[in-house]
Amino acid sequence: MAYPDHWMNELLSKSDIVTVVSSYIELKPKGRRLWGLCPVHGEKTASFSVSPDKQLYYCFGCHIGGSVIQFIMDVEHMTFHEAVEHLANRAGLAMPQEVNDAAMMQERAKRERLAEACQLAARFFMETLLGEGGVSGRAYLKKRGISSDAVKRFGIGYAPSEWEALKKHLGDKGFTPEELVEAGLLVKKADSDRTYDAYRGRVIFPIIAANGRVIGFGARVLNNDEKPKYINTGDTLLYNKRNNLYGLNLQKSGKLNDLVMVEGYTDVIGLYEAGVTNAVASLGTALTQQQARLLKRYVSNVYIAYDGDAAGQNATIRGLDILSAEGLNVRVIVFPGGQDPDEFVRANGKEGFDHLKEEALTLNSFKLVALARNYDLSKDTEREQYTMEACRFIGSLSPVERERHYQQLSKQTGYSMETLRAQGASARPDERQQPVTVKDKIAVGRRREAEPDNERIRAENALLFHMLQYPVAIKLAQEQGLEKQFASEGMRTFAKGLAEAYARGMEPNLPLLLSNMEKVDAERVSAALKDEAACTEPEKAAKDCLCRIEKCNLAEQIEEIKRQLIDPALSADQRAGYLREMQALNLRMRGLS
Ligand code: UTP
Ligand code: MN
Repeated sequence: MAYPDHWMNELLSKSDIVTVVSSYIELKPKGRRLWGLCPVHGEKTASFSVSPDKQLYYCFGCHIGGSVIQFIMDVEHMTFHEAVEHLANRAGLAMPQEVNDAAMMQERAKRERLAEACQLAARFFMETLLGEGGVSGRAYLKKRGISSDAVKRFGIGYAPSEWEALKKHLGDKGFTPEELVEAGLLVKKADSDRTYDAYRGRVIFPIIAANGRVIGFGARVLNNDEKPKYINTGDTLLYNKRNNLYGLNLQKSGKLNDLVMVEGYTDVIGLYEAGVTNAVASLGTALTQQQARLLKRYVSNVYIAYDGDAAGQNATIRGLDILSAEGLNVRVIVFPGGQDPDEFVRANGKEGFDHLKEEALTLNSFKLVALARNYDLSKDTEREQYTMEACRFIGSLSPVERERHYQQLSKQTGYSMETLRAQGASARPDERQQPVTVKDKIAVGRRREAEPDNERIRAENALLFHMLQYPVAIKLAQEQGLEKQFASEGMRTFAKGLAEAYARGMEPNLPLLLSNMEKVDAERVSAALKDEAACTEPEKAAKDCLCRIEKCNLAEQIEEIKRQLIDPALSADQRAGYLREMQALNLRMRGLS
């Protein structure tokens, strides 16, 4: 992360975890650890432990853990950087000097400049909307039922229908056309030096970063015949649509149960008008991992509420995978008749929306609903085909989940539960194989579980335990490729850090390694160390972990292919290719057991 290792090392050596924790709770020694009442979850018997030699903590009650930095994040509800600053203050250590790199300073200065231009542009658009030139903009908003309250809250504006209105306005304030092009506010004509306003005669929705700064714009036409409907700021030094969510600046972390993810500006605004204030938009449809991580800072429960049309529903499937891969609990709100959230809520109000939200589908239910849409279930042959495809998918789920889906499917298709179970079982490539969910399912936030329900995570954690204790485990894992052993980027980096320390013949500096990790990952490391029982045959045990992970890797690839196979749009060739690939994977899997 942003701090130099030597500085971080000094901070950590001046922030003994026992001393820091002792200023919050009383610690008593028992065995190799010190124990006390957890300051985070509140309890009557001590399950919070600190390991002075490893400089880590772990709570056996609420399963938080990590280094002294993560401890401060937990008890003080701070971000990583806030916690680092807090500890530096406490230790009387000056924050490290920012790198004095000329190019970096220049870039920072430019970014400041562009931010100022965007801020002033947003104000210009707002003032235009409210002034003489804003008549048609105001009329449009009125027609759409967007109130002046919402205009204020979202900072909505209007760009006049002129070529150089903003260019002139900001030029008078000293901004050069080049700067404004870089901010995405002006467009440069190809093959000429001419520049002109990027948004003309459109309603403006400023995109505001979580820190409150305007970084980009969406501009909508007033008349639906005109194309494109929206013009959005492209990538600039300030704005990249992959890293931002519209409306997130209006949310307060810590006070939210969940967030509702929608596609567009007007969905966020329409929901707000109806009283649903916790919606954010991915702007367009391709949800990214960065956006998922942003969401995770605020909540652990996310509802996807994309448009009811085909494009929205396909995007929902991808979004679901991305969000659940980040450990978020995701459910899907499905709008009837191809409506979008804005249209739905204007017709049915908050009550209608809350009702749909209560009935939101889980990931797998949604996939089955999406599958069913491809068939006409009133026709025998199509119903049969659908049932077989659905059973193939359900067969790959965990037994408990299978039961629920078979019941549903039985109601939907009329086949008996016995028939469906038999069909699902016959479609499973290998009955003995553990059901493996594809992605890292470690829950975040309050929903943390003691034991992960996922074989992959269990096997990874077991390997981690051995790697932390026995160099032979590191050696074996390296031989098989460290990067294959851990699903998350953070854990891979950590494992590499361990391996490097051992290669240099040093004990790894755990708190330092942890200080470079995401909270969830740091938690996994401290949880992996909670067992201190010595292992009699570390080499054999490590090999066993590696084999379990390899099986999971194969099972995940097989699972992925199965999901691809569900896609009814596959050509016969593609399908055959996937089946061949699956066969090869199954063979390797058999070789392992
Ligand atoms: P939609 O077409 O669903 O628009 O696109 P919408 O949000 O319902 O807008 P209204 O209600 O017609 O005003 C969803 C999102 O996709 C992006 C925008 O971010 C939009 O909010 N989009 C759409 C574009 O970027 N360009 C387009 O031409 C269309
Ligand atoms: Mn709409």
